[in-house]
Amino acid sequence: MIRIISSDIGVRGTMASLQGKKVVVIGGTSGIGFAVASAAHDDGAQVIVASSQQVKVDGAVKQLGAKASGSALDVKNEDDVKRFFGDVGRFDHLVFTAGDWGGGTFGGGTLQEMDLAAAAQTFAVRFWGALAAVKHGCARIAEGGSITLTDGIIAHRPMKGAAVATAMAGSIEHLVRGLAFDLAPVRVNAVCPGFVFTERAKLYPEEMLKRFTATLPLPRSATPAEAAEAYLYLMRGGYTTGQVLIVDGGRSLV
Ligand SMILES: NC(=O)c1ccc[n+]([C@@H]2O[C@H](COP(=O)([O-])OP(=O)(O)OC[C@H]3O[C@@H](n4cnc5c(N)ncnc54)[C@H](OP(=O)(O)O)[C@@H]3O)[C@@H](O)[C@H]2O)c1
Repeated sequence: MIRIISSDIGVRGTMASLQGKKVVVIGGTSGIGFAVASAAHDDGAQVIVASSQQVKVDGAVKQLGAKASGSALDVKNEDDVKRFFGDVGRFDHLVFTAGDWGGGTFGGGTLQEMDLAAAAQTFAVRFWGALAAVKHGCARIAEGGSITLTDGIIAHRPMKGAAVATAMAGSIEHLVRGLAFDLAPVRVNAVCPGFVFTERAKLYPEEMLKRFTATLPLPRSATPAEAAEAYLYLMRGGYTTGQVLIVDGGRSLV
C-alpha cells in the first residue's frame, strides 16, 4: 500500500524556496540573467554568475551582494566550461541565459546572400554553449536540481530574413525535451521570452520597440524581473520537466 503524506505533495506548504540552494547563472552579469541571479539571491540562494568579460562579472557580483560570487567564462571554449564547473563543484540549479545577440545572421538578409559559416555562428553561444554547460554541469547537480535554458519567441513567430534565428531558438526547445529524458531526475526546461527591456534591448530604436509590442494583449515589453519569475518557477517547481515556459505578453496569440 502506498501511503501519501500530505507534506510530500505540498498540500499544506507553499512552493519550495531557494534558501540555501546553490544557483549557477551563465549569462548572469546583465539583462535577464542578472535579474534571475538577483531574484534567486533575494530568495536566499548562493548565486554564482558567469560571462565572458571579467569586468561585467565583477560589477554583477558587487551589485548582487554577500551570497554572490562569479567567474569569467567563454561558453564557446569547452575547456573553459569544464574548468568552470570543476571550480563550482556540487550545486542545485543551472540557468543559462548567455547570448551574443546575433553572432551570425539574425535578420541578416536573403537566403541567397547568406554566408553559411556566419549562419552557423548563430548557434555558437546560445545552442552549443548551452550544451557545453549542460554536458559539464549536469553530473554535479544535486537531487531535486534543475537546468533552465533560454530561447526566444522568434521560435514561434518568425520574421522575414531571420530563418536561422527561428531555427536556433526552436532547437533549444527540442533540446530540453530530449535532455529531460537523458538527465532525469534532473529537470530540464526552457524559458521563451518575448520582448524584454534589458540594457541590450534598449539599443534598438524606440520606434521599432513600439512596433514590436503595440498589438500585444499586454502592449509593452517585459521587465527583466518579470522574465526572471519564469526561471524562478522552473527552479522551484519540482514536477515540471521538458517544458517551455513562454513569457511574451501574449505575442504568440496575435
Ligand atoms: N531581451 C530580449 O528581449 C530577449 C528576447 C528573447 C530572447 N532573448 C534571449 O535571452 C538571452 C539573454 O538576453 P538579454 O537581453 O538578457 O541579453 P544580455 O543583457 O546581452 O545578456 C547576455 C549575457 O550573455 C553573456 N555572454 C555573451 N556571450 C557569452 C559567451 N561567449 N560566454 C559566456 N557568456 C556570454 C553576456 O556577458 P559578456 O558580455 O560578459 O559575455 C551577458 O551576461 C539571449 O540569449 C537573448 O537572445 C532575449
